[in-house]
Amino acid sequence: MPSIGVAVCALWVVGVVAAQQDYHQPTSKGFRMQHGFETVLVQPFGYDGFRIRAWPFQPPTGQEISFVYDPPLEGPEDEAHGMQFDTAFIGNMSEELRNGNMIVRTSGWGGNPGGYRLAFYRVEANGTETLLTNEYAPLKSINPRYYSWAGPGSEFSAEFSFSTTPDEQVYGTGTQQDHIVNKKGMTIDLVNFNTHIPTPVFMSNKGYGFVWNMASTGRMEFGQLRNRFTADAATVVDYFIVAATPGDYDTLQQRLSALTGRAPTPPDWSLGYIQSKLRYENQTEVILLAEEFQKRNVPVSLIVIDYQSWAAQGDWGLDPRLWPDVAEMAHKVKILTKAEMMASLWPSVADNSLNYLEMMAQGFLSATRSGPGTTDSWNGSYIRNYDSTNPGARDFLWKTLKHNYFDKGIKNFWIDQADGGSLGEAYENNGQSDYIQSIPFPMPDALYAAGSQRSVGKLYPWAHQQAIEEGYRNETSTKMGSPCDYLSLSRSGYIGSQRFCSMIWSGDTTAVWETLGSQVASGLSAAATGWGWWTLDAGGFQADPTVPWSANIDTSEYRELYVRWLQWTTFLPFMRTHGSRACDVQTAYTCDNEPWSYGATNTPIILSYIHLRYQLARYIQALFSQLHRTGRMIMRPLYMDFEISDARVAEWTQKNNNVTTQQYMFGPRLLVTPVTVSNVTEWSVYLPQPAGNETKPWTYWWTNETYAGGQMVTVPAPVEHIPLFHLGSRSDIMNGNVF
Ligand SMILES: *[C@@H]1O[C@H](CO)[C@@H](O)[C@H](O)[C@H]1NC(C)=O
Ligand SMILES: *[C@@H]1O[C@H](CO)[C@@H](O)[C@H](O)[C@H]1NC(C)=O
Ligand SMILES: *[C@@H]1O[C@H](CO)[C@@H](O)[C@H](O)[C@H]1NC(C)=O
Ligand SMILES: *[C@@H]1O[C@H](CO)[C@@H](O)[C@H](O)[C@H]1NC(C)=O
Ligand SMILES: *[C@@H]1O[C@H](CO)[C@@H](O)[C@H](O)[C@H]1NC(C)=O
Ligand SMILES: *[C@@H]1O[C@H](CO)[C@@H](O)[C@H](O)[C@H]1NC(C)=O
Ligand SMILES: *[C@@H]1O[C@H](CO)[C@@H](O)[C@H](O)[C@H]1NC(C)=O
Ligand SMILES: *[C@@H]1O[C@H](CO)[C@@H](O)[C@H](O)[C@H]1NC(C)=O
Ligand SMILES: *[C@@H]1O[C@H](CO)[C@@H](O)[C@H](O)[C@H]1NC(C)=O
Repeated sequence: MPSIGVAVCALWVVGVVAAQQDYHQPTSKGFRMQHGFETVLVQPFGYDGFRIRAWPFQPPTGQEISFVYDPPLEGPEDEAHGMQFDTAFIGNMSEELRNGNMIVRTSGWGGNPGGYRLAFYRVEANGTETLLTNEYAPLKSINPRYYSWAGPGSEFSAEFSFSTTPDEQVYGTGTQQDHIVNKKGMTIDLVNFNTHIPTPVFMSNKGYGFVWNMASTGRMEFGQLRNRFTADAATVVDYFIVAATPGDYDTLQQRLSALTGRAPTPPDWSLGYIQSKLRYENQTEVILLAEEFQKRNVPVSLIVIDYQSWAAQGDWGLDPRLWPDVAEMAHKVKILTKAEMMASLWPSVADNSLNYLEMMAQGFLSATRSGPGTTDSWNGSYIRNYDSTNPGARDFLWKTLKHNYFDKGIKNFWIDQADGGSLGEAYENNGQSDYIQSIPFPMPDALYAAGSQRSVGKLYPWAHQQAIEEGYRNETSTKMGSPCDYLSLSRSGYIGSQRFCSMIWSGDTTAVWETLGSQVASGLSAAATGWGWWTLDAGGFQADPTVPWSANIDTSEYRELYVRWLQWTTFLPFMRTHGSRACDVQTAYTCDNEPWSYGATNTPIILSYIHLRYQLARYIQALFSQLHRTGRMIMRPLYMDFEISDARVAEWTQKNNNVTTQQYMFGPRLLVTPVTVSNVTEWSVYLPQPAGNETKPWTYWWTNETYAGGQMVTVPAPVEHIPLFHLGSRSDIMNGNVF
């Protein structure tokens, strides 16, 4: 077996070398075009890509915030770095630059030669050129690169417009709760709010990928003829475009992740079952929990302590009155279950926190542009968030976590409420409701070391992930990108968040069927954005107050929802349960959420999926290792594998038909279709037509019946069976022998 692996590996290396020999090297290190008060710098960047920066008046220093590696992880030898260029001219000329299969050309209005508008083309195998997009400039309209100054300083707001066509399909943009995979027609605010993590990275079905490399809040619009990206406050505009053959999304993800970051590999233990609830309240309860897992012989890889386990927000330590001996607890949990532990931290520092005065004195707390600096309040305390953009504050946070948790055996951190601006919820002046669904007024315009919320707010959660990453890397003497020993769990993220040892979960969801259904498209958009380490709260986070049984573990309705939701998580990058539960009979402080809490008939079903997860370990490790090497996604929207071989997949993706928003591939071999309504015994699944000539490529996991591709089939789906099909042999899957 190992010798086959080596042979495959050697072939792969030969393939890459051959491709690089054929590579059309960049024709120059770039050009700088001046047009009136504005300057545009265009550089070859990565394979088949360009970086564009534009500014009015004042040139950038090159030290601006960027989420893109310079140099990229992969790219031609001859490309530009920093602010390099070969050619400078006034924007009345036509200029052309080629890098690999991509060309950028300047033109005037209506495509006339001589001008200052950029157009991007892909060079096809037969030598013809295909226009991918150009700067959108209909006659007598605002400039495609449009600047305005709303404040007294030199920061400006920018609106950049690019042409599109009504049939273009747009994938990615971070996560929303919208049941939508193709974002065409959407307007998406670049403001974080819990489950809404808008991120300006997208892939087009025309065969290009785009990164709006801006830390600013703003907006993304995907119209009929125009895609527009808006930055509220900036000193330079920075974006990237990369090309691949249409339908080749793996190459696009490889190109994009070479710029924004490759996921490291997670520790093997983290691929097991993650146990969490709102909330385990003290040391005794956690030890009893570990004993229960051991007694019942249920595998568990991580046990999580949620919020309010501290005495005051910002202590970043467990309340000693409830957790008298943290090291002893972590040790016992380990002995009993082999599980690691994770603890929640919030970014908020209340003025009664042990750390408040020192952090205030050192300038480690975010402030606001006006008022006393308080950015929010929560449960009766005014708070200021720690400033994740300040390296000193990150360092302070890590040192505190190290002392209070890491050195005592709790080595994984849940960075909750990490959205930035406020606490990440619209608590402030909002009546402190526990069911907040929208932002009623602008987020506080917080001030950070790196700038204001409007100009750098999208950096906040990313830099917060970075704080934990820096701590881990220091602690384990490893470099970023190398395998992770520990991980964080973040409610938010941004461009290139996949470079950290950090999972992103879909946020605070409600415990109803509709919400279960909408998580699928959210995960598929996360994947298209480049985030492979995705997960969610099995069972939903909180009760929907309008649904009497929601989150109540003693009702048959919720038990059924929970089983369907939990079984689905077997086929997510991370298998995790969490949430606030209600119950009729209470045995702990808060209602139970353990695998055995959902009734005698459901317990064996839940356990069977936890066991299946462990049986799939080699398959899942293979997926993460491929993600690390090439950016090849783990959760795969159907268009990634079948857009070319199955015309219906292409058409249905365009229309966001529920086949394409509810079904996906988990790696190259498993077709997953979670059941999203109650009381069903069978389920309809579309089996895409794969490339190749096998007559019945699909096997139903539970019966071994085989099926042809390109058809809708109805299969038995009693509550113990999630509709699951596989390609190829089951033993290859179980052995991880799939690439
Ligand atoms: C562009 O403008 C420069 C500076 O005014 C001038 O020297 C040059 O001839 C112009 N080129 C074209 C192609 O119009
Ligand atoms: C060249 O290839 C492109 C892309 O495959 C195709 O659309 C076009 O029709 C081809 N043109 C010619 C002249 O063969
Ligand atoms: C709010 O704080 C009080 C103590 O001041 C505590 O008893 C209560 O549980 C907290 N509420 C929540 C929702 O955490
Ligand atoms: C990591 O180590 C570097 C170098 O020793 C140090 O400057 C930095 O403060 C450390 N960061 C953290 C988060 O501990
Ligand atoms: C810890 O939690 C358990 C279970 O909820 C409870 O019975 C016990 O009283 C708690 N102990 C303390 C010290 O709060
Ligand atoms: C799609 O919607 C139809 C009609 O509502 C439903 O019958 C079908 O089960 C759904 N399919 C999936 C995969 O959710
Ligand atoms: C479930 O379906 C069965 C058979 O169709 C029906 O008798 C029963 O009332 C349904 N239960 C619920 C909760 O809808
Ligand atoms: C399928 O195609 C492959 C490669 O072209 C060929 O070797 C094989 O015989 C074909 N199988 C069938 C069943 O037609
Ligand atoms: C299906 O095949 C697998 C081996 O590939 C076997 O382990 C399993 O028991 C079979 N299931 C049924 C229902 O026959």
